[in-house]
Amino acid sequence: MVDPLAEQAVDALQAVTGAHPGMRAAHAKGTLCAATFTPSPEASSLSRAAHFAGGPVRAHVRFSNGSGDPTAPDYAARDGRGLAAKFYLDGGATTDIVAVTLPAFFVRTPEDFLAFARARRPDPTTGEPDMDAIGAFLADHPEAMTAAMAVVSALPPESYLRCAYNALHAFRFVDAGGGSRFIRYRFEPDAGEATLTADDAETRGADYLQHDLAARLADRPATFTLTAQIGTDEDPHDDPTAVWPDDRTRVTLGRLDVGGLAYDREQAGDVLVFDPTRVTDGIELSDDPILAFRSKAYGVSVARRTRIDHAET
Ligand code: HEM
Repeated sequence: MVDPLAEQAVDALQAVTGAHPGMRAAHAKGTLCAATFTPSPEASSLSRAAHFAGGPVRAHVRFSNGSGDPTAPDYAARDGRGLAAKFYLDGGATTDIVAVTLPAFFVRTPEDFLAFARARRPDPTTGEPDMDAIGAFLADHPEAMTAAMAVVSALPPESYLRCAYNALHAFRFVDAGGGSRFIRYRFEPDAGEATLTADDAETRGADYLQHDLAARLADRPATFTLTAQIGTDEDPHDDPTAVWPDDRTRVTLGRLDVGGLAYDREQAGDVLVFDPTRVTDGIELSDDPILAFRSKAYGVSVARRTRIDHAET
């Protein structure tokens, strides 16, 4: 069943960046990589999920820019970058983590997402952002300011491999004994974070992040550390606009080795979908309404870019 609000949300995204046949309605430009994930010894004490239990598991990682316009240059600074990871489990099952460079999300309800996306629609006469509409939305939604300030102050990254990525929603980790806790994921680049000036990024060209990825990975694999921030009873698990305090315990879940570009998926019409609600035993969804809504909106985008049901992918 198609969700009308999800249809409207994708319509609103496409009104901002245009509809581009065959492309994702958000994060349209990106590069797929082959990876392996090796869990830390501590991971299995927090969650009984299969990929935290033992040896390395195969993964795909897609790095992307936030825009739904696949022709937007990589040096556009005001754009959250994405890291989407898919872990391949025994028996053909998969589980995904989808993360961005922002510290928080803009909105806490699907209705607010729609209102914000509509406020971001360019002025039809000038083609420029309608700052009055955006300003009015932000004035009514102070919870959006953390993400908005991060976007406004963001510098272009030196490399996708030198960004930290946050999955923003809370998930409930369930251990082998049935004990549970809420966590938030973060991927940290072992090479450290690094940005460029706007001028330097522009000099490197419209596709510099895609070229950089190919060049660095041809040289050597890159690694990220996946961590879980453990929430306390005071930390909301249904609100992706609220940053959890820095002093919360952070546990290393494992190492993601990004080995090189991947050519085994997304070729010749093959469809790959990363969906943050695709969890596995030992990981449960929180009651964050944005998290549940994402799956519906992604389904609409997938249907538009492929004309198939994303449950098949
Ligand atoms: C209501 C909130 C949201 C909506 C409506 C939305 C919408 C979308 C859509 C339509 C796509 C394209 C899906 C596809 O065709 O496969 C997408 C991709 C993506 N979104 Fe969201 N999104 C939302 C929230 C978020 C949040 C909170 C994050 C970060 C935690 C995020 C990160 C990403 C990333 C990284 C991708 C690219 C995944 C890939 O490489 O396949 N989104 N989003």
